Amino acid sequence: MNKNSVLEMRNISKSFPGVRALQNVQFSLCEGEIHALMGENGAGKSTLIKVLTGVYSKDEGDIFIKGIDNAVSIRSPQDAQNLGISTVYQEITLCPNLTVAENMFIGRTKGAGVNWKKMNDEADRILESLDIPAKAKQQLSSCSIAIQQMIAIARAVDMQCKILILDEPTSSLDEQEVEKLFKLMRDLKKKGVGIIFVTHFLDQVYEVCDKITVLRDGQFVGEYEIKDLPRVQLVSKMLGKELDDMSDIRGDYEGPGENVEKIFEATSLQSNAGIKPFDFYIRKGEVNGFTGLLGSGRSECVRAIFGADRVIKGTIKKNGQTVKIGKPIRAMKLGIGYLPEDRKVDGIIGDLSVRENIVLALQVMKGFFRPFSKAQAYKFADEYIKKLEIKTASADTPIKSLSGGNQQKVILARWLLTNPEYLILDEPTRGIDVGTKIEIQKLVLELAKQGKSITFISSETDEMLRTCSRLIVMRDRKVVGELKGDQLNQNTIMSTIAGGDK
Ligand SMILES: Nc1ncnc2c1ncn2[C@@H]1O[C@H](COP(=O)(O)OP(=O)(O)OP(=O)(O)O)[C@@H](O)[C@H]1O
Ligand SMILES: [Mg+2]
Repeated sequence: MNKNSVLEMRNISKSFPGVRALQNVQFSLCEGEIHALMGENGAGKSTLIKVLTGVYSKDEGDIFIKGIDNAVSIRSPQDAQNLGISTVYQEITLCPNLTVAENMFIGRTKGAGVNWKKMNDEADRILESLDIPAKAKQQLSSCSIAIQQMIAIARAVDMQCKILILDEPTSSLDEQEVEKLFKLMRDLKKKGVGIIFVTHFLDQVYEVCDKITVLRDGQFVGEYEIKDLPRVQLVSKMLGKELDDMSDIRGDYEGPGENVEKIFEATSLQSNAGIKPFDFYIRKGEVNGFTGLLGSGRSECVRAIFGADRVIKGTIKKNGQTVKIGKPIRAMKLGIGYLPEDRKVDGIIGDLSVRENIVLALQVMKGFFRPFSKAQAYKFADEYIKKLEIKTASADTPIKSLSGGNQQKVILARWLLTNPEYLILDEPTRGIDVGTKIEIQKLVLELAKQGKSITFISSETDEMLRTCSRLIVMRDRKVVGELKGDQLNQNTIMSTIAGGDK
């Protein structure tokens, strides 16, 4: 083993029925290093991590850990923990009903007598030392997702881990929260912890990482020092091809003019989710978007339109006629589709197959008493598996065995299949790799050109700038502005989000 290495994984292979998820993969990590693990959706990142943490057993290969002469055997998450390996998964695996302190020490207090006071004091001390704004006795569910994630890290750190794994930890954090997380990562790095960081955000990789390992289709592509690998090269290594121009996908599509009909229009709409009443419209063939910080009320607005939250005030018109939505099923029948932000809660049904997940929304619209024929369902599923390049062994594979990004594509397929006149996409590209992101943006513009209307919400402003011809800006649960034409640039968006009076 290299003398600075804390971890070396050699020639790791792992197959699932029909998929070779990893083939002879190498990965090494030094002390005090932040090492990005990059690759397209389905490249094998999470599988490699799960092999390392004992969630999956490897088929072949060896794992070496600093200070241990022979290859180690990691057969369970407990084994991994004993070796100083800690993981924070994207989906938080803590218990929301317990307190912060309980979550930090769960499964670690031995014997009968738990000293609550000592535990709470200790938790507060750790939280403070890591600058995490939470209190030991608070219920975990009262903390934001970002804070919960940091608590998960605090738990890992306190277990004296030498290797910390973060699998897409930032996808639900806003900019400030990401900064906090990075500070925490840098502090840990100084203490000599080796960190493996999985993310699809290139900016973040270039901001905090020292090294990058790239995987493609389950194979090791290479390990690079960050300074030796410019962005474009990283992207082409991930995709295995040159990326054509990323900036201009819109071409000459300007969006509909002022006189084109408003297909949906809402007036003084307010839901029970705590947003201020707002006005909204969308024209035929338009792509517009909601922008604002996480938690500013972007999702709540579209949920009110779709009837996913209870509307307490206001009216909605379709083509000038007042309609009553009230429930998602009504919205769907009126031609609205909605891809929710949180696919874990509102989206996937893990045990069902890819095919069943794809046809689900269409089936709901049709009514469950009139099921599709199998042949029809396969036809739909296969069409979208191809169109969105969903990586799956077959249409019958349970969706839960797909990689995170590919699950997201299945949900997108579900809504595209219902062929709605108005499609609402809330963070459709979260967790999706760069190549596919651009494909999805192109698809959105293509739909608009065909006369569909789309509302696009994304935390990445450049993605909205590439697709939207009008942006609605939100702050503190209120619509505070609308930008179009020349105003559609990063600076104006940022200053409108922040509020102009500072
Ligand atoms: N439990 C499983 N059963 C069957 N196939 C699986 C299982 N877990 C992963 N796979 C397959 O292994 C391949 C690699 O998946 P993995 O989750 O490692 O990708 P990833 O690089 O993490 O992608 P993403 O960026 O989308 O999260 C995929 O083709 C996936 O469908
Ligand atoms: Mg993954």
